Amino acid sequence: MREFILKANKAITSGDVNLKDLPGSCGRLDLVCRCVSSAFFLSHDIRRDTVFYSVHYGEPNPPVALKFVGSELKRVSPDERSIAIFIKKALSKEHDTHWRESTPGIYHAKRDFKDIVLEKLEEGRKVYLLHLKGKPIEEVINPKTYDEIKDRGFVFILGDHIGLTEEDERFLRDLKIERISISPLELHANQCIDIVHNVLDKLEYMEK
Ligand SMILES: C[S@@+](CC[C@H](N)C(=O)[O-])C[C@H]1O[C@@H](n2cnc3c(N)ncnc32)[C@H](O)[C@@H]1O
Repeated sequence: MREFILKANKAITSGDVNLKDLPGSCGRLDLVCRCVSSAFFLSHDIRRDTVFYSVHYGEPNPPVALKFVGSELKRVSPDERSIAIFIKKALSKEHDTHWRESTPGIYHAKRDFKDIVLEKLEEGRKVYLLHLKGKPIEEVINPKTYDEIKDRGFVFILGDHIGLTEEDERFLRDLKIERISISPLELHANQCIDIVHNVLDKLEYMEK
């Protein structure tokens, strides 16, 4: 299983999503939509082994978490507008601490970024923070380590255009979550998801 947790610092937390203004009044919802697209969409197929969380901290009701489950997704297509329509539906619901399904494979809850990270650790997943100054990914996830980590399940945390706060980074450091880097250059969050999938795809399908 491959899981991604995006902290979306400004992303809107109500159903008042203006589909014509995803970057502005929706708090960079365009970025969240691109991450969903990168997390799941192959040419003519969906990555069923992937789960993506976006945790929204924008106005008016932060936090709200969304969970997208690749094996259950239906009718969503890769373009930002289609994904934004499904996000709007999920954000329009009443939220509580339990995951509730909005449309097939898309869940919403009143959950904090930290809760989700702790839940993944409790589930025994191997959790990484994607960070420009982390250890190169190939040193950490490679043919020698891949099978063992895969059995536990991969979780990758990433920030949005603002990144994680110092407090978030301290929280993750205290949990001894390893930082890994995928490039010497700072990339967009969706590009990071593409590259992580590519590294894992090569280990899964080519190097055996
Ligand atoms: C656009 S970047 C964030 C930029 C923000 N100004 C900052 O200082 O964090 C979005 C996210 O992508 C991930 N990221 C970007 N470049 C990376 C790299 N070279 N290696 C690993 N993760 C990266 C990080 O998780 C980052 O929070």
